[in-house]
Amino acid sequence: MIRNGKDSAAIDAAVRLLLAGELVGLPTETVYGLAGNADDDAAVARIFALKGRPADHPLIVHLEQMADVAHFAEDVPAFAEALMRHFWPGPLTLILPRRKAVARAAAGDQASIGLRCPAHPVARALLQACAKAGIVGLAAPSANQFGRVSPTTAAHVQDELGSDLLVLDGGPCEVGIESTIIDCSRKVAVLLRPGAIGREQIEQICGQALASPEDLADAPPRAPGTLEVHYAPRARLRLMDARSLQKALDLLGNDIDSSGARIAVYARALLASRSSKLIRRRMPDDAAETARQLFAVLRSLDDQGVKLIWVETPPDTPDWDAVRDRLQRA
Ligand code: TXA
Ligand code: MG
Repeated sequence: MIRNGKDSAAIDAAVRLLLAGELVGLPTETVYGLAGNADDDAAVARIFALKGRPADHPLIVHLEQMADVAHFAEDVPAFAEALMRHFWPGPLTLILPRRKAVARAAAGDQASIGLRCPAHPVARALLQACAKAGIVGLAAPSANQFGRVSPTTAAHVQDELGSDLLVLDGGPCEVGIESTIIDCSRKVAVLLRPGAIGREQIEQICGQALASPEDLADAPPRAPGTLEVHYAPRARLRLMDARSLQKALDLLGNDIDSSGARIAVYARALLASRSSKLIRRRMPDDAAETARQLFAVLRSLDDQGVKLIWVETPPDTPDWDAVRDRLQRA
């Protein structure tokens, strides 16, 4: 059931469900989450079950404010505090050493825990109401079936997880792709997942260069968002530069018109095609705008029965890092 997240009665209903160990669909500025009380292992088990996610893959815990970090984490390094102060509330998740007695299930039994303070007004309203009711943090992975594209509208959540779930509608997500994840549980800061907050911005605030998981001698923490195939639409997606794309279209000619195969192109370049059936979506010139619409575009192409999506490779500049990452994993 979808309810307007600005309606205080809907927030109250969500808090009652969370207190009872149930789950709710939660809008954030990045993507929608599937939320449960992070301190309730049974609620956390429901999240894993509903998503079809392996229980050893840790979840992100959402907090109302920085003061709540101490409930879940300890030995927080100074650079992590600087990041929180600067970027929270916002699309940044920090992996921190977990306090041993808490949120073992939400953390997927890792010694660390992922924490984020979201900026979306509905998320903030729910977290505030939860705090009053004694719930400190909401464990919330993206509200999609494991391995699939993250939802960026309330209707997407319902398509993924069914209509029994209460989903708070907060409109389409502003950012559109998942938060940047920085591992702060070791001596060096490690970029685990690129996002809207870019590498340079983060390096500036934490005063050190970000390492990559490949740079580390020991194994990085497990992060399904970093699996090679993730965020995948049903259609097969191929990345090509504009010239290869044009060549492929030339080769195809108008064959698809008679074959009935459904092919879509998502590109910035203006491409010529003899086919009248080719589905075209224009990729914006701006990386942030592309991020905002990316998952909705992939979803709508799936809904149209597209079997093959040809995507123009994004520009090789840092502002496109996060979009490039998601496309490479799709
Ligand atoms: O923007 C977002 O981060 C969204 C919204 C709902 O907040 N959430 C999200 O959650 O993308 P999820 O579960 O789909 O992805 C969380 C990522 C996973 O790749 C997970 O492995 C990683 O965070 N993560 C969480 N806790 C971790 C930990 N202790 N160590 C390593 N990775 C962790
Ligand atoms: Mg996810």
